[in-house]
Amino acid sequence: MANNLLAGKKGIIFGALDDKSLAWKIAERCVEEGAQVTLTNAPVALRFGKIDELAEKLDTIVIPADATNLEDLNELFDKSMEHLGGKIDFILHSIGMSINVRKKREYTNLKYEWMNKTLDVSAISLHKVLQTAYQKDALSDWGSVVALSFLAAQRTFPQYSEMAESKALLESIARSFGYHYGAKKNVRVNIISQSPTKTTAGSGVADFDRFYDYADDMAPLGNASSEACADYTVTLFSDLTRFVTMQTLFHDGGFSMMGMSANILK
Ligand SMILES: NC(=O)c1ccc[n+]([C@@H]2O[C@H](COP(=O)([O-])OP(=O)(O)OC[C@H]3O[C@@H](n4cnc5c(N)ncnc54)[C@H](O)[C@@H]3O)[C@@H](O)[C@H]2O)c1
Repeated sequence: MANNLLAGKKGIIFGALDDKSLAWKIAERCVEEGAQVTLTNAPVALRFGKIDELAEKLDTIVIPADATNLEDLNELFDKSMEHLGGKIDFILHSIGMSINVRKKREYTNLKYEWMNKTLDVSAISLHKVLQTAYQKDALSDWGSVVALSFLAAQRTFPQYSEMAESKALLESIARSFGYHYGAKKNVRVNIISQSPTKTTAGSGVADFDRFYDYADDMAPLGNASSEACADYTVTLFSDLTRFVTMQTLFHDGGFSMMGMSANILK
């Protein structure tokens, strides 16, 4: 059900690869709520993903940008403001990638060149996006930025490997930049820590299906779906949550607060 929560707002959505992507569902939901968005992803993802289909559906454009490349980000903001006709009200950072995980390198045998890449793509890119927007004054007053994380930032999930460190760094950047952007322009920066979700990035984690079922059995409400994540994200982009900033918000059916559940004991 649409409530026009984002009527008149303009946003940039990073990270829609295919219709399983969290960013895909969030982009659709934002438009349903009255927003206009531009879509962006890494040039390589545009070649094998389906983002053009989404752009057609949402009647918008795709602007290629590697989120680690400052020139690309500069251009992305310029083109988005030109296309949307003004400053940006919200940004979704939905980006994650680990070559060590993809190549199944053990956590105790990481290739550091790849780890640096993981941290750059999955975490420092949030700083780059925020710094580019800040220096260009591209965000409206009371704008809202959301990035997606996972509980491995706080608790140990061995199969999540170095992505745990990148999520911890991502969440720290949200707090630190949240201070500076809040003090300057009332822009808020938050993290949604999402349940395991069956997407390309999610399924890249070892034993993902078993872990998905475990989390589902542990959480009193079960795993939060990508559609539910889209609903929650819309609230953070809306004016109803204007004094929420620098937070890691757990959207996981209660999983993060659990020690044991009756379902697991069974
Ligand atoms: N799926 C899960 O279980 C889960 C749970 C919690 C948090 N998350 C987080 O949600 C976010 C989105 O992941 P998803 O699960 O929708 O998977 P996804 O694979 O659909 O999305 C990841 C996106 O990151 C993009 N990306 C990779 N390198 C990039 C770069 N250099 N520049 C720009 N974009 C780049 C990919 O092209 C892709 O679109 C990630 O941050 C992920 O860690 C996922």
